[in-house]
Amino acid sequence: MKTGFIGLGHMGSAMAANLVKAGHDVTVFNRSPAKRRALLELGANEATRVADACRGDVVITMLADDTAVADVALGDDGIVGNLPRGAIHISMSTISVALSKKLAHAHAEIGQRFVAAPVFGRPDAAAAAKLFIVAAGDPTAVEACKPLFDALGQKTVPISAEPTAANLVKLSGNFLLAAAIEALGEAIALVGKAGIDRRSYVDLLSSTIFPAPAYKTYGGLIADGKFQPAAFVAPLGYKDIRLALAAAETLRVPMPLGSLLHDRFLRLLAQGGERLDWAAIGGLAAQDAGESTFSR
Ligand SMILES: NC(=O)c1ccc[n+]([C@@H]2O[C@H](COP(=O)([O-])OP(=O)(O)OC[C@H]3O[C@@H](n4cnc5c(N)ncnc54)[C@H](OP(=O)(O)O)[C@@H]3O)[C@@H](O)[C@H]2O)c1
Repeated sequence: MKTGFIGLGHMGSAMAANLVKAGHDVTVFNRSPAKRRALLELGANEATRVADACRGDVVITMLADDTAVADVALGDDGIVGNLPRGAIHISMSTISVALSKKLAHAHAEIGQRFVAAPVFGRPDAAAAAKLFIVAAGDPTAVEACKPLFDALGQKTVPISAEPTAANLVKLSGNFLLAAAIEALGEAIALVGKAGIDRRSYVDLLSSTIFPAPAYKTYGGLIADGKFQPAAFVAPLGYKDIRLALAAAETLRVPMPLGSLLHDRFLRLLAQGGERLDWAAIGGLAAQDAGESTFSR
């Protein structure tokens, strides 16, 4: 498919590369031009303006946050102003329910289509085309995107005709991941301070009562105190908890654990954790116990 791809960060660079490798005709844009180079070498076309990435059947955004997506989609000379009628904007970033609703309206008003398709999986899963994609929007539009989703992930789950549903499901999933990271951090601090080998402890749990990828991945990072280089930076994790709490406030759903996680991220960021992986909130419990947690 003739596809524009906007946002070549940790996730987007790997995803755009997989679209090129699958034979799609991909035009890439990134705010910082240097990140476009590797994709051009793979065979992608270069867009030097957002508008030039909006000439095909589809444009995908994989940007940091609401501000970035709103700037690129709704700003002067943005996606809404340039995408042809009938073409599809697939928003794959983790953004707020409120912005997703606004984008759906803005595109529908001028006859464009909007699909929300946030993803589960870190950059290594993106590079291996093993993402899980949660897709929502008009079913014919979601179906039309299938060749692209197939090149990006191992499974796509269409969840609703209402785009905001995918964003809410993604935010709830990241809330659960952050809760698992905090719980793992506390448990590992407990056994670690008692002198039990942290790695063996994580291997035991993740091969018996918690055989889940999240426990394996994050348990390993916490046990090793390995929070750099970041695959998913802490400020973006903090953003997701804030967005989950904003949705909870709108729906009047108390989430006391969510509020606790909000403060855990705030503490990490206040103490210089800006460049660490979000798994570093799992190192705070050991610090509270008087142990050093970094690069053990
Ligand atoms: N990393 C993960 O494990 C992971 C997993 C699932 C979902 N996600 C979600 O996927 C999205 C991307 O994450 P990532 O880890 O790839 O982030 P990242 O490496 O920080 O990349 C962010 C991208 O957004 C661009 N950007 C930021 N602000 C912008 C603005 N105001 N205008 C235009 N472009 C802007 C950056 O451009 P520059 O290069 O110019 O800075 C870069 O291309 C986020 O919504 C994140 O929550 C991440």
